[in-house]
This record gives sequence, C-alpha cells and structure tokens, in this order.
Amino acid sequence: MIQPSAKSQLGEELFDKIVSLAKRRGFIFQSSELYGGINGFWDYGPVGVELKNNIKAAWWNEMVRMRDDVVGLDATIIMSPQVWKASGHVDTFIDIMVEDPVTNKRYRVDQIEPQAGIVHTYSGAVPLQILEQWYELVVNGGRGEMLGLLREAGINGVSREEGINRLINDLLTGEGRIVDMIRADVVAFAVSGCETARKKFSVLVPMGKPPGSARKIAQMYYEKYLKGDVVLIGPEIREKVENSVRFSPDSGAELTEPRPFNLMFITYVGPVQDSTSLTYLRPETAQAIFVQFKNILECSRQKVPFGIAQIGKAFRNEVTPRNFTFRSREFEQMELEFFIKPDEAVEAIAGRVASPEEIDMDEPSPDTRAWGWEAWHRYWVYKRLQFYERIGLPASKLVVYWQKPEELAHYARACVDILFKFPFGKRDANGEFVGEELEGIAARSDFDLSQHQRFSGKPLTVFDEELRKAWQNLPHPKQQELRRRYYEYRLNALVKAGEARERAEKMALEDAEAFTKGYYIPHVIEPSAGVDRIALALLCSAYDEDMAPDEKGNLEKRVVLRFHPRVAPIKVAVMPLLKNRPEQVQVALRIRDMLRPYMNVVYDDAGSIGRRYRRQDEIGTPFVITVDFETLGDKGPELKDTVTIRDRDTMQQERVKIQDLVHYLLERVR
Ligand code: GAP
Repeated sequence: MIQPSAKSQLGEELFDKIVSLAKRRGFIFQSSELYGGINGFWDYGPVGVELKNNIKAAWWNEMVRMRDDVVGLDATIIMSPQVWKASGHVDTFIDIMVEDPVTNKRYRVDQIEPQAGIVHTYSGAVPLQILEQWYELVVNGGRGEMLGLLREAGINGVSREEGINRLINDLLTGEGRIVDMIRADVVAFAVSGCETARKKFSVLVPMGKPPGSARKIAQMYYEKYLKGDVVLIGPEIREKVENSVRFSPDSGAELTEPRPFNLMFITYVGPVQDSTSLTYLRPETAQAIFVQFKNILECSRQKVPFGIAQIGKAFRNEVTPRNFTFRSREFEQMELEFFIKPDEAVEAIAGRVASPEEIDMDEPSPDTRAWGWEAWHRYWVYKRLQFYERIGLPASKLVVYWQKPEELAHYARACVDILFKFPFGKRDANGEFVGEELEGIAARSDFDLSQHQRFSGKPLTVFDEELRKAWQNLPHPKQQELRRRYYEYRLNALVKAGEARERAEKMALEDAEAFTKGYYIPHVIEPSAGVDRIALALLCSAYDEDMAPDEKGNLEKRVVLRFHPRVAPIKVAVMPLLKNRPEQVQVALRIRDMLRPYMNVVYDDAGSIGRRYRRQDEIGTPFVITVDFETLGDKGPELKDTVTIRDRDTMQQERVKIQDLVHYLLERVR
C-alpha cells in the first residue's frame, strides 16, 4: 500500500526552480493570471504548447498510426448525462473531503499529512453583547446571587468596562467553584438564543508554535458563526496529540466531518437551467469510446482484439489541486480502450489461455490467438513503459506499481500504475520513494460496455465468427464447462453492478446462450495517461545545472533542459554569428527555411552568441546551427557552405555541409 505524499527539502527547492523556469521561458503560466489566477487551471505558453504537441504526436504515432489494430476518435466534451449515470460517475466519482471551518478551504482526507502538537479545546462562546446584557442585569440587581459571586471573584467597585474585561478573562482562564458557577450562569443565560454557548471547538498548535494562535483561530471560528464579537467560554483544555489528521494543515482548526464530494463539473445545455438540461464536463475521455464502440466497429472493419484511442480534455473539480500542473482541474488525457475476447472465448478458439510468462514482448508480430486478459494487460504495461523511455524518461525514474486487490474497483481484474519519481511523491510500504502516477493500465473486464448496454437498452455485443465455428467443434463437456463459466462470470458481474438477482440470472442466461452462438461483450484493457503529467515529468527529468564557459571562456552556471530531441519543443536554432553581416544573416535565414518543413526551427540573432546559446539551453533545444565566416568561404574554399552544429549536452561543435543538414538532423530528432 502506498503512503501519503512527502516532499523533501531538496525536492522542494528543485521543484521551485522548475516551476519558475517554466514560467520565465514560456512553458506554463497560471490561467487568468492577470486577474489573480484561478486555482487548478494552467495555460501552456509558446514552448509549452510545442512540448505538449510533441507528447501527443509521439503517443498517437505509437498507439494508432504504427498499428493496424487501433483506430482513433475525437468525441465531444459534453455528452448525454446518461453516459455518466451508466459509467458510475454520477454515483461514485467522489472524493471524501473535509473543510476547514475558518478558512473554508477543503482537503481530501487521504491527502492530509499526520500532525503532532497541542490541541486546545474551547467549550463554547457567547456574543459579547449577551455577556454585556448579563453583566448589566447582575449589577443592577436582577440576579442577586450572582452579584455576590462577582464580588467574591473580585469583580466589584470597578468601571463597567473594567468589570466586563475581567469577566471575559475569568471565563476563559479562571479556575475554581466560583468561576465555574459564573460560567454556568452565563451559559444558561445565553443558551436559548445562542447554540455556540455549548459548542466545543478545538485547534491544533503544532509543536514549537506559540499557543496564542489557537485562541485567535477559535475566536475567528465562533465569530464566523455569530457574525460579530464573541467571548470564549473556558476553561481551555490542552491535550497532546500525535499522528492526527483531524486538523487543518493551514490554520490548525478542527476539520468538519468527512463527506463525499462529486468531482464532475456541472453545466447546462440550452437556455433553460434546470435538472432537465443539466449535464457534466467529461471527467475522462474513455466513456465516449465505449459509447461510440458500435459505430466504430461497423465503420472501421476492425475485429476484436482491437483498440480505439482518443486524446482530449478532461475536467475534474479536484478538492485540492496541487503540485503545479500535477493535479489540475482541467487537463488532457490520452486513452486507449483495447477490446479483447473474454477468456472463455479464447479458450474455445485456441484450446487454452496462454500464461503471460510465456509471451515474448519483443516479438514484433506475436501470435495473439491464445492471449487472455492477463497477457494483453502485461503486453500493454510493457508497451507503455517502452513509450516513456522512448520519449526520454529514464527507466531509473519509472516505477511499476501493481495495485493490491483491495485497491481495485469491483469490476477491475488488475491495474498497474506507472509512477514517475517527481521531486515530490509517495513512499511504498517499505519506505521506498516511488513518486506519483503518470498513467494507469487497467484490466476493466466487460464492465463499461455492459453498463452502457444495460442503461441504453441497445446491444453492445460483437459477433465472433471464429468463436461460432470453434464452438461447433468443441466436445460437449467442454461446451458445457465454458458456457457455465461464462454464465457465472456474467451473473456475478451483473449482481456486483447493482442488478437485482432474479433479473441478473435471466440476463446472464441470455448472455450465456448468445455466447454459444458466437456473441459476447468484449473485455477491455485501458492504458490511460495524462498529457500534463507527462509534460511535467519531462520538465523535471530534463532539468539540469552544469558549468559552461561564457564569452570570455570563464566557467559559469548553466541551466539546461536535457529533453530527448523527440519531444524538445524546438529542434534546432539557426544563428548568424554576427547579425550585422548581411551575408551571414541571409544564409542563416535560408537554412531556417530549408529546415522548416521537417522540424520546428527558430532563427535567433539577438544578443551575443553565448547568450543565445544559454537561451536555447534553457528551453532544451538540442542543436544550434551557427553561420560564420567559414560558411561564406572567408577562411578558405574547403569550409565554404559548411556550418557548425552545437550539441546542447556535450557543447561540442561539429562542422556539417549545409546540403547534409536535413539528413543529419532528422536522424537525431526523430
Ligand atoms: N479512464 C481512466 C481514468 O481516467 P485516472 O487514473 O483517473 O483513470 C488517468 O486518470 C490519467 O489521467 C492519470 O494517470 C493522470 O495522468 C491523468 N489525470 C487524472 N487526474 C488528473 C488531474 N487532476 N490532473 C492532471 N492529470 C490527471
């Protein structure tokens, strides 16, 4: 089981540098910054958008274009609200959250870090005005026995203001029988019009912090309730706690009771805003794929196993957006739903279900006939890890985490999270730092299509000719066994999904009958990744500082993003050595235009060559071409029409003929 997140001092410093560079160099800005920003929303600047586009293009190429068995989809963000009812999001897409009653800030219960300190508990508060009324009544003889007590407490013969002040102090800190009786009378006097007179409230003061802050927070809490000045009623009780998650990480105030909070953003379609027009911004791209499954199956001439891929925006009203773009409220997902045959069908067709261990993942076109869900699941975990390494995330920073059975959704058979060791992240049960999730690869059984079939009333089964034929050749006992297993699986799934037992039995029987004729609901393996998290992981992984010579050869600190050229926002910068030499400028511009159709290239002539190099290093441009005197033939004919290419990482320069540039660069940036 994974432990809550922790940030080391070093990690925090590094992360701050990355966030600051991201803004300074135009990767990521806060959304609506001009108006103070909006929490959980981020904009990508000129180089940020290139980075993101490169990630998406790499994913699309690998997952769709380079395969025969995956096709694409681009569906709408807003869909029928019934989609979200069927998918379970309306009822179960929730976080358990608590609220700080003083600041109104909300927290996810599972993200609160345990705290230690002294808890200060107050037994209630009354409005100052009521205390004053009580005091007047007492001193004017309206409560004879209390006047005696006030005198015994030393509150007599003083001005009204002084008397009330002493009383306020005594209520909170005074001890003994007399003060207790006064306290009880004040509470009894106030209580009919004031429920807070007996409402307890606690504040945690972390170790080493001044205790006075607790009283201030309690005062703010009661004032919020009573909308005016209040007097705390004591006595103030102090108690030591450790490992507590009951208090606000910011103010120390006692948090409200945990309650569920649906993460979907609500919107209305059309001019009338009521329950009939209410729908949601999609919280994931996946559901549209299930909803369009039949259409795509019919038009694409694909057969199970095959996949449908989609890239697009998703929205979640996260309780606590945090860690820069890591947990945002608007983000982009890249999801593949890879539809496979149920294991019973595989067994009927291939005579067995292959164990995942016997599969060679490196085989470019493996025989997948005997692959059941486990083999396909392992295959996609393997493929996705390959992808991350191909875009430059080192294997040493990636962690494969198999969810424990108790962490899985009821319909999921397995789920693997690919984690990246960000400068922040979690520790596993052994205390090992494992980072945070980039992608989940889930074996989701036939849950999604089955749900949409139930809710829409339209069949989402496929007809599998291979299964129909194979079935006819099976011995009768095998037919019976597979039919029974399919029936039991479907019955169990339908009951778990909330179908009444009697109806579920009837439906499962129909499903089992259809199965024997070649029909089934495909199962699915779902690799689901977040573009923004990958972009952030690339920034974190690429960030580096080293020493590089300045104009005069003196070593100075250099900030460099060591992106893999495949994802680098700009592949090459072209520069004339001197911008006041028109011949150099002309050649540099010609080279830029020559390279443009092949890759993202910029022309830069502003500032000294050293400064220009640094600028490109900071945005991770892997190559810089410089047009110099040699290019123009000033230093002899053998170097004419050659340029230098500087490598960002080694800072070495190489001379290359202009006519070879396209080939030279394409070899390195693809
Ligand atoms: N269809 C499955 C699904 O949506 P998920 O684990 O909730 O699964 C998949 O999301 C991926 O989407 C995550 O691994 C992550 O990369 C990205 N993601 C989810 N919530 C996010 C958020 N609030 N901000 C940024 N990325 C997020």
